Amino acid sequence: MDKMRLGVNIDHVAVLREARKVNDPDIIHALHVACMNGADQITIHLREDRRHIQDADAKKIIQGSSLPVNLECSINKEILDIVCDLRPHRATLVPEKREEVTTEGGLDLITHEESIAFAIEQLHDSLIPVSLFVDPTLEAMEKAKELGAEMVELHTGSFANIFAMIYSSLCYCHHSIKELELPRSTLESKLEKSLEDLKTAAAHAHSLGLEVAAGHGLNYHNVSYMMEISEIVELNIGQSIIARSVFSGLAEAVREMKRLTSR
Ligand code: PXP
Repeated sequence: MDKMRLGVNIDHVAVLREARKVNDPDIIHALHVACMNGADQITIHLREDRRHIQDADAKKIIQGSSLPVNLECSINKEILDIVCDLRPHRATLVPEKREEVTTEGGLDLITHEESIAFAIEQLHDSLIPVSLFVDPTLEAMEKAKELGAEMVELHTGSFANIFAMIYSSLCYCHHSIKELELPRSTLESKLEKSLEDLKTAAAHAHSLGLEVAAGHGLNYHNVSYMMEISEIVELNIGQSIIARSVFSGLAEAVREMKRLTSR
């Protein structure tokens, strides 16, 4: 049986912590829970605006993790210098905009070719393998190979959004989704096309010798579609796992506090 690696993205635990600027929930506790319960990799994103993971978190996670750490980052020079010092097991280059809520699309390898090539060279000089987070197009696969990346992570956001439009009662749907009114048959064709794009891109990347990961917006309802794409060997998933953990843990959390506050 083919093995699929699960990268658990624990940024969202730090989002909750940063909302209060305290040390609860403890990101290192989250790291250990993920490590002890079947994750194959830990994924974190050191954003330029440090809205969740802080430099000290990244350092502690990389030093304390029993699993490989995949560090997502932009191609900003200051961030790359920090990443090279931190020496994660892999760096995944992602596009980053300050105003975005989360990563909104793949890296544009054509427009930013020169700075991405420079970033890859800097990371390789520090012996850090590089993955590029890209939209599932053939051109992106070709360019990723040409630029010398070891791996691509296919952006599944578009697939996940269309899936959410069709099955909005099943899973979260971004507030900005405006196409809910589209006929179901149109949405189903769009879903098929987005899956076809992922399959074609994964097969092409694999044929070029690139390792293939996928991520963004994957959840308990749509992840099975990714299992059908044999070239994808790794999934990076955050929001849906942390969101589910609220409800798999909330009942016990309330019971425990009730016990402590009962006379
Ligand atoms: N992969 C990449 C490159 C990402 O930027 C993110 C979001 O931080 C993820 C995977 C995980 O996405 P989600 O939180 O929607 O599961």
